[in-house]
Amino acid sequence: MAYNYPVIDLAPFITGGDAKKKEEVIEKLREACSDYGFFVAVNHGIPDQIMDNTMDATIGFFNLDLEEKLKITTPPGAPLAAGYTKEPAKSEHWQMFTPAPINVFPANPPHFKETMEEMWWKLDEAAVLVQSLLNDCLRLPKGTLAKYNDSRGTDILLGFHYLPATETEKTAVNAHRDNGLFTLVFENQVEGLEFLKDGDWIPIDPIPHSLVINVGDALQALSNDKMKSPTHRILAQPGKSRYAFVYGYMVAEEKWVEPMPELIGQTNESPKFKKFNIKEHMALKQVFKNPPPHWNDVVGVHYHAIAPSVGATAVTTN
Ligand SMILES: [Fe+2]
Repeated sequence: MAYNYPVIDLAPFITGGDAKKKEEVIEKLREACSDYGFFVAVNHGIPDQIMDNTMDATIGFFNLDLEEKLKITTPPGAPLAAGYTKEPAKSEHWQMFTPAPINVFPANPPHFKETMEEMWWKLDEAAVLVQSLLNDCLRLPKGTLAKYNDSRGTDILLGFHYLPATETEKTAVNAHRDNGLFTLVFENQVEGLEFLKDGDWIPIDPIPHSLVINVGDALQALSNDKMKSPTHRILAQPGKSRYAFVYGYMVAEEKWVEPMPELIGQTNESPKFKKFNIKEHMALKQVFKNPPPHWNDVVGVHYHAIAPSVGATAVTTN
């Protein structure tokens, strides 16, 4: 079965394009984020060679002996969990935060640190562009989202190795929604990432050097439900390892998240969510057991929905 989902060429914003072409891209993005909550971006500005270098270095690292990899586990007492983690039977990953001494890198493969830091800044550049495009999709005054989302302290890059499927383990990552503003993903040419739309799982066909970009819970609330944070999962593949990078463009954990006044002010719409912060949102996901027994119950921003007031409900008259 062929699945339809948005693949969007960002070239007009990278190599230059006239105003009409740019507006067409904005329109496609607006629809994608509202109908699907995700899109595949091509010509996003990150050079192919940098993506290839990052992938090669990460596969090289995962091919090392476990003893070597364990040398970069998170040091005890570290404020952020940078480094290597293994989840038996499912996956292994390493993660880093904004380049700073808190990150830990392996000595091998050579130049691992430089390769990842170069990629970090390219992803950051792409994220700044995507944020400004989404700002335009929401018809916010220029720079509104960027001004709001001004802390880069919890952005995160994870390099994953998802193990091949086994008889008993067929899911690499359970159904969930992301917390931040949005997430950028790129992978080796192995399928497995799926998004839930209208009750169906849509599998993503990997396009070389593309980025899969999905809306996060924070953006769904900030946009007053105009953009949707989609439920997604990763299926393990029979006989194949999947390697992927996940870059979370976050909102600071303590910052209030609520429908943006600049947005609801201009249309006089009612806010659909109470204000919350990402820290309590993540705690909520723990309390309500993420993943839940069924993916329809995945915790999302709807847990902060404002119940319709009495005045807003239908009134029956006799
Ligand atoms: Fe995710």
